[in-house]
Amino acid sequence: MKFFIDTANIEEIRKANDMGVIAGVTTNPSLIAKEGRDYATVLKEIAEIVDGPISGEVKATTVDAEGMIAEGRAIYALDPKHMVVKIPMTVEGLKAIKVLSSEGIPTNCTLIFSANQALLAARAGATYVSPFLGRLDDISQPGIELIETITAMFSRFPDIKTQIICASVRNPIHVTDCALAGADIATVPYKVIEQMTHHPLTDQGIVKFQEDYRKVFGE
Ligand code: E4P
Repeated sequence: MKFFIDTANIEEIRKANDMGVIAGVTTNPSLIAKEGRDYATVLKEIAEIVDGPISGEVKATTVDAEGMIAEGRAIYALDPKHMVVKIPMTVEGLKAIKVLSSEGIPTNCTLIFSANQALLAARAGATYVSPFLGRLDDISQPGIELIETITAMFSRFPDIKTQIICASVRNPIHVTDCALAGADIATVPYKVIEQMTHHPLTDQGIVKFQEDYRKVFGE
């Protein structure tokens, strides 16, 4: 399983990229709005930092296929080597995915909460589907079961090339579960990447090595 970082914050993206662990970036309208900066400028900047797929979502207020197609083309044109157009799971969204994918524009179908939605997106030609784990957990439905069902379903049909991005990842246990479920990618907030580096015994071990070293060799 590969990692993408789920943020529009440039500093977090730089830090994760410097660690060498991320293969791409996902954003959404809420994440970009949080940065309080111009939508297209943020996406362009991200694409200059990370040499991998960068998901930029169509504006939340665009709901018709024609509008999403036009915006999708504009997002892709920001950086055709990296940009992936993120489209919500709706009838209009599927139409937009069909057209964009026929033009060779990669797409990421977002807000997936059922296996049937994932199958529809795959058949419409989506490059990626983004099932949301944490938001299902939030309403007391085990999100990991959705990931397991989609991976099992896609593996039955070898002609499906759509990759599964586990989204709405909230903690390190989600990451392990997604990897065990066979997801292609987990898109993870910076905080969770940082949490994953820690173990109490690692932290204690570093302190002990420092103390022992200083006793004999000084600073
Ligand atoms: C990424 O594709 C999603 O937009 C994101 O993971 C949603 O995460 P959240 O449920 O924590 O907002």
